[in-house]
Amino acid sequence: MTDTNITKDAMYGAVAPNDFESMIELDRYEQRSTAFDKIISATHDHFWDPLDKRYIDFDEPFDLVNVAMMPEEQQPLLRLPHIAEKLADPKDRIRFINHMQLWNFSSILHGEQGALNLSASLCHVLKDQGAQEYAANQTREEARHVTAFAKYIKSRWGRPVPCGAALKALLIEIIDGPAVYKKIIGMQMLVEGLAMGAFANGFRYNRDPLARKLFQLVMTDEAFHHKFGKIWADRTIPKLTESERNMVEDWAAHCAQSLLFNNGSPEQQQVIYGEFGLDPQRVIEDIMERRKNRDPKKRFKGETNVFRVLIKTLLNAGLITARTRGFYAMYIDIDELSAESSRMVGDDIAEEGIRYLQAINFKDQNRQISIAAE
Ligand SMILES: [Fe+2]
Ligand SMILES: [Fe+2]
Repeated sequence: MTDTNITKDAMYGAVAPNDFESMIELDRYEQRSTAFDKIISATHDHFWDPLDKRYIDFDEPFDLVNVAMMPEEQQPLLRLPHIAEKLADPKDRIRFINHMQLWNFSSILHGEQGALNLSASLCHVLKDQGAQEYAANQTREEARHVTAFAKYIKSRWGRPVPCGAALKALLIEIIDGPAVYKKIIGMQMLVEGLAMGAFANGFRYNRDPLARKLFQLVMTDEAFHHKFGKIWADRTIPKLTESERNMVEDWAAHCAQSLLFNNGSPEQQQVIYGEFGLDPQRVIEDIMERRKNRDPKKRFKGETNVFRVLIKTLLNAGLITARTRGFYAMYIDIDELSAESSRMVGDDIAEEGIRYLQAINFKDQNRQISIAAE
């Protein structure tokens, strides 16, 4: 039941991944939706190539030994008593911050690979040619993101670290499964939403100019990927029956929980603690102690906080009702979120990035930009 497709708008109509015969039905060819045409044609404006130094140069150096990539305030683990005591030397703190960044960039890299495979899988199940062209185009953009993050990690650390178990399980589930709502909520709304928050945060705080440039270039694409999910939600969620709604809402909560767990789980980061001479058990105890004593709603503050962005995405889409409100309220103040504008965090960074790309792509032309691509 949960793997069946729910189609509320023909442009998101779907078939089984192996049902090619449905794709060559004669009537289908005349039914191309125009809903994604603006997003598709905008790709020329924000085109960039990670292999072309006019856009980004991965040979730019950064001193990882002496400079912390992120300010200390952005690494709350350093304030845990056991870690603060063990890593008293500023050099060790820099090494710790930069190693945690390797973990972050590796998660992003694996997430980008997931996005590539997921958007390719959408080409096999979405029946509408416009939706297929959108998905094929996203696939190409994700392939560039994989290349770009792989090159960045290689230039800074040499090699990525493995994908966390929770993120891996979620990616496998949405790439393998046939249900379009699971794919779109899991990837376009949640992973892409989380990425927009993480990239906005990196753009704001990362001290490596190359990382900041990379984040901004990737965001010029991700802003549109996130919009695709939003268009789906706007056209689907209000039309769901109660039981469909519940199923979709539960799926969203399941994905959110997997992503929260992936980032916040000390169990997943035990290997790292060992490398720094830290006792993983004591780190976990310190984390538990801090969680106990903190106002839970204060956990995810700041507009670029990634989980705040993620929960806001779901709230705006109507995917948080009284049924799951309590779950999210453990992490943030839902009333405060409801009162905010629905503008996506990072859209302004993406718009500035598109202007930068247009200057390279259309040196002699004057073009308007818009990422309100519906
Ligand atoms: Fe991407
Ligand atoms: Fe994406």
